Amino acid sequence: MTPTEHAAPTPGVEDTEAAPGKGSTSPALRVDGLRKTYPLPGGGRLTAATGISFTVPHAGALGIVGESGSGKSTVARMLVGLARPDAGRIEVDGRPRETRTPRRAAARLARAREIQMVFQDPYVSLDPHLTAADCLRTALKLHGRPLDLAGSLLDQVGLGAREATARPSRLSGGQRQRLAIARALAVGPRVLVLDEAVAALDVSIQAQILQLLGEIREETGVALVFVSHDLAVVEHLTEEVLVMRKGEAVEQGPTAEVLSAPAHPYTRLLLASVPREGWEPQLVSRLRG
Ligand SMILES: Nc1ncnc2c1ncn2[C@@H]1O[C@H](COP(=O)(O)OP(=O)(O)OP(=O)(O)O)[C@@H](O)[C@H]1O
Ligand SMILES: [Mg+2]
Repeated sequence: MTPTEHAAPTPGVEDTEAAPGKGSTSPALRVDGLRKTYPLPGGGRLTAATGISFTVPHAGALGIVGESGSGKSTVARMLVGLARPDAGRIEVDGRPRETRTPRRAAARLARAREIQMVFQDPYVSLDPHLTAADCLRTALKLHGRPLDLAGSLLDQVGLGAREATARPSRLSGGQRQRLAIARALAVGPRVLVLDEAVAALDVSIQAQILQLLGEIREETGVALVFVSHDLAVVEHLTEEVLVMRKGEAVEQGPTAEVLSAPAHPYTRLLLASVPREGWEPQLVSRLRG
C-alpha cells in the first residue's frame, strides 16, 4: 500500500469517502458554474469569478492561468473551502462537495480529505514549532491514519533523515514546499490544489518540485489543479488548461493545443507576455493597447 492510499475507515470518524479513484467512472473533480462576487467599497459588486466549469480526471492535471487579479486564487479558494461560492457546484468523485464549512468536526475532516491545498508560501500552512516528521504525524493522527506513514511520505517528497527532525525555519524554501506537499498528501486527498506553489522557488528547484508532482500523481492517482501565472510551468505539468480573464474563462482545452494555437486574443497576449527568445516588450504593450 502506498502511503497516500486511503486507510481503513477509523471507528468514530464519519466515513464519507468514495471508493478509491482508480476504476471510478466519475472524474476526481467536477466544477460547474462557479461564481464569486465581492462587495465594492463604493457599492455594487466585483465579479471575481463567474461561469467557471471544468473536470479533472483521476491522476489528471488542470492548469488555471491568467494575469494578476483574473480570479485564479478565487477559484482555488472556492475549491478548497476558503471562500464560499455564490453559485455553482463542486463534485469530488461524483459526490457533491459541501460548500459551507460543516459544523461537526468529523464532517470537516471528511471534507478536508476531498481537496487539499498547497500555497505559495508554506509558512502559512506549516506549524513553526513542529519538526517535519511531527508535522506529518499530526496530520496523520487527525485523520486516523497510521503514524508510521510519516516515513514513506518524507521519502515520497525526497526529504531525508536530517530534514525529518528539522523545524520549518531550518528548511530551505524548496524543502519547506516539499513538506507542505507531504502534509497535504498525509490526509490522502482526491484532489490537490496548488496556488502558485512553485512561484517563489528558483528555477532548478521549481523543476524538481514539478518532477515530484508528476511522480506523485502517477503513484497516488491524486488529481492536480495547478494555478500559475507561468505558462511554461503549466505547459510542463498539465493536460488541460483554463485561461481566466476578469473572472471569466476565456478559453479552455488541451494545454498543448491552447498554448500552441490559442484561439482567444487574450491567450495570445498572455503568451506574447512571456519573456523568451525573440520577445518584444513593445509588441506586448502595443497588443495591450
Ligand atoms: N476577499 C476579497 N474581498 C474583496 N475582493 C477580493 C477578495 N479576494 C479577491 N478579491 C478580488 O477578486 C479579484 C480576483 O482576485 P484573485 O486573488 O482571485 O486573482 P488572481 O488571479 O489569483 O491574481 P494573482 O495572480 O495576483 O494572484 C481581484 O480583483 C481581487 O481584488
Ligand atoms: Mg492568486
